[in-house]
Amino acid sequence: MAHYRRTRDDSLLACEPLCIEDYGLQAEAFTSPPKWHLAHTSWFFETFLLKPFLPDYRPLDERYEFLFNSYYNGVGTQFSRAQRGLLSRPTVAEIRQYRAHVDRAMEVLLSDGDHPQRATILARSRLGVEHEQQHQELFYTDLKYSLFANPLLPAYRDAAAAGDAGAPVHALSSKLQWREYGGGLVRVGRDVEQGDPGDFAFDNEGPANTVFLAPFTLARTLVTNAQFQEFVEDGGYRRPEFWLADGWAVVQELQWQQPLYWLERDGAPMHFTLYGLQHRESSQPVCHLSGYEADAYASWAGARLPTEFEWEHAASEQWVHAPTVAVDKLHPATAAGEEPLLQLYDDCWQWTGSAYRPYPGFQPAPGAIGEYNGKFMANQWVLRGGSCVTPQGHTRPGYRNFFYPQDRWQFSGLRLARDI
Ligand SMILES: [Fe+2]
Repeated sequence: MAHYRRTRDDSLLACEPLCIEDYGLQAEAFTSPPKWHLAHTSWFFETFLLKPFLPDYRPLDERYEFLFNSYYNGVGTQFSRAQRGLLSRPTVAEIRQYRAHVDRAMEVLLSDGDHPQRATILARSRLGVEHEQQHQELFYTDLKYSLFANPLLPAYRDAAAAGDAGAPVHALSSKLQWREYGGGLVRVGRDVEQGDPGDFAFDNEGPANTVFLAPFTLARTLVTNAQFQEFVEDGGYRRPEFWLADGWAVVQELQWQQPLYWLERDGAPMHFTLYGLQHRESSQPVCHLSGYEADAYASWAGARLPTEFEWEHAASEQWVHAPTVAVDKLHPATAAGEEPLLQLYDDCWQWTGSAYRPYPGFQPAPGAIGEYNGKFMANQWVLRGGSCVTPQGHTRPGYRNFFYPQDRWQFSGLRLARDI
């Protein structure tokens, strides 16, 4: 219950810097307005917990089932994703009432320790909490994209108020360091136990299985702005020899010349951040790359993207549970620290060269809830790690994030790999 309440509160806290006009922003079809995220996360609890398991539950408004369904065909048809920004009604105040309505009912459901479906309720509630955390990250990435569409380049929050000190005092040298791994047969993935809400993994992280890894090296740190700038200046975006064919086609079509949010002002390197327009620090990780750009950079650098299993194997060796003190930052930071691999979870998601496909033996859950992950296992790439806007405690070595390789509005960067 505490985890539920805290997560629900966090979604509202993230909205505090917004003005009322911001709640409806949707710059592109692939982004969603803040208001919609607030409603859809409530819809999830209503659809998958309250309606099936709380006998006296009455929806606040029956029409919300259609309005705030994202992609669950088993529940019914959905309002057009591309037009979510047109939903000026229900108002923000009405959506807050919807959230409160769902929360009151969830309190009743979660307090019923004798419910015959207690184990399923706890497991699904945990899924609902993790789902809401995923939307908290999307809230930031979608909002950043939409604010960037405004020529005034408005800041979500003031950098000084956020206490983000920028580059750390003990920044590492800019020389790339490598860590070697022997490979062999290694275990990856997790056997996800239904009904154990204390030990959560999404269904796409299992079943556990064994893979063979040839010896490999991973870069200790993420590729930086300065390193990526060299690729740009070397004509990287104009030289097809570094690009996958599909990636080259996207570069031609969209006329990409540098990462999303990079700008120059009076010759100075700048970029758009959630703190507004900022100087682009050379030592910070390059961010908002598509998978194609990450792959092209790796080719140019004489390296490659890691596979998702190389990443997981290496990250598992140094896994400690997420720190309890949240780092309040809305932009990736310069590498610092003593661990073998740095910047695993707190800066940029890392593209891997692995296709997002099911593990051997994977079975989606029966019913509409089985649509959560399984039906997206085509034409996407896996990203590993976490980012500066991933909620605290949401990540782990086996976590499989996934996006289309042309997507670049997430906080996505790269860590190089090489064969030994
Ligand atoms: Fe969702």
